[in-house]
Amino acid sequence: MDKIAVSLEERADQVLPPIAKRATRLGIVKAKGHYLISEDGKEYLDFASGVAVTNVGHNHPEVVEAAKKQMEEMIHGGHNVVYYPSYIELAEKLNELNGGSQMVYFSNSGAEANEGAMKLAKKVTKRPAIISFKRSFHGRTMATTSITGSSAAHRKDYEGLLPSVYFADYPYAFKNNRTEQEEVDHCLETIHELFSYQIDPENVAAMVMEPVQGEGGYLPAPVPFMKEIRRICDEHGILLIFDEIQTGFGRTGKMFAYEHYGIRPDILTLAKGIASGFPLSAIIARRDLMEQWPAGTHGGTYGGNPVACAASLSTIRILEREGIANAAEQGSYFLQELKKLAGQTGQIGEVRGLGLMIGIELTNENGNPDSQLLQYIRDKALEEGIILLGCGVNKNVLRFIAPTTVKRKEIDRVIHFLKETLLSK
Ligand SMILES: Cc1ncc(COP(=O)(O)O)c(C=O)c1O
Repeated sequence: MDKIAVSLEERADQVLPPIAKRATRLGIVKAKGHYLISEDGKEYLDFASGVAVTNVGHNHPEVVEAAKKQMEEMIHGGHNVVYYPSYIELAEKLNELNGGSQMVYFSNSGAEANEGAMKLAKKVTKRPAIISFKRSFHGRTMATTSITGSSAAHRKDYEGLLPSVYFADYPYAFKNNRTEQEEVDHCLETIHELFSYQIDPENVAAMVMEPVQGEGGYLPAPVPFMKEIRRICDEHGILLIFDEIQTGFGRTGKMFAYEHYGIRPDILTLAKGIASGFPLSAIIARRDLMEQWPAGTHGGTYGGNPVACAASLSTIRILEREGIANAAEQGSYFLQELKKLAGQTGQIGEVRGLGLMIGIELTNENGNPDSQLLQYIRDKALEEGIILLGCGVNKNVLRFIAPTTVKRKEIDRVIHFLKETLLSK
């Protein structure tokens, strides 16, 4: 492809505000499988997956085919106006995937699903308060900013947010230098303290949590913590909302991360990987809860767009056929190779993850978070044609969000790159 005179980045600088900043300065003109192709013809191995969206790779032919077919039949009927097959079929499939006796409501984005989940919880319980967790990320609308605890910058100058939101601690044993059990005990204690000093549990509508914290640092919650959270919610009639917007759709080597824990949420929110890039999100909750959400008390124009629903059904078929099993297999290989690498270099404090939701904590010689090293690695990776993202409250966690269909040789390429980069530093 000819080098074009004015790059997309240069044109963007004229018309896009700083708020529209992105993780790279790449101008991308084509996406195929596990690769993005830039305007100057360079191929990038994509281990960002559009931030955990293109879980079966870019433009999977089956997804493209399903979307095209649906476009020819109907682009928008309006879910407020008519029923249409892809919407109903997807609701049926999501109900089946979540054990039956569930009902499904579609929206457009993750934040919108979380907003709806909170409204549902308040409507059903008639209680005001929400408990969220430190370092959580739930979206950018005012209500989801209110329950987000991963950066003061997300909240600065927007304060006067949703009232009656309380934050408990979420396990981060590595950072707090505790054993897993000590960390779990500590975090559970912060919930009991909230109940004793700040908010009576009978006033709490819901607890909202990510089974693996995403933006907060790729932190899987320990099983005993999750089980106890479930028990506490049951004891006090609090609805448990799992935000699986980033952990869903095969990302962790199961369709949904909660399957690793042997417990179920009362309300589940899904987005990102649900439709391979078409804007779609879902709130899934038990029938007895959903039946208490009267018509007209929540809504939206575009939720459950026919094309997005068709793309989602096709995405789910690919995940069930190959993506989920591959994510589990390649994820455990990736994790093991990263652990080996951590043993060979002094710059990786911890390797952790579930399936293909893997992060490494970069630390300096004093064991402190090393955000400069993160930036250095990401820049070098781009030079090598690999897209990697960071996360974590200290901006020192390198996260790997490979497609669930990733191949062994692509993981090996990333491991090789990391090894060369870290050992030559
Ligand atoms: C766990 C989690 N919840 C909610 C959101 C918000 O989703 P959206 O950007 O689609 O509103 C994100 C996005 O990164 C997320 O990771």
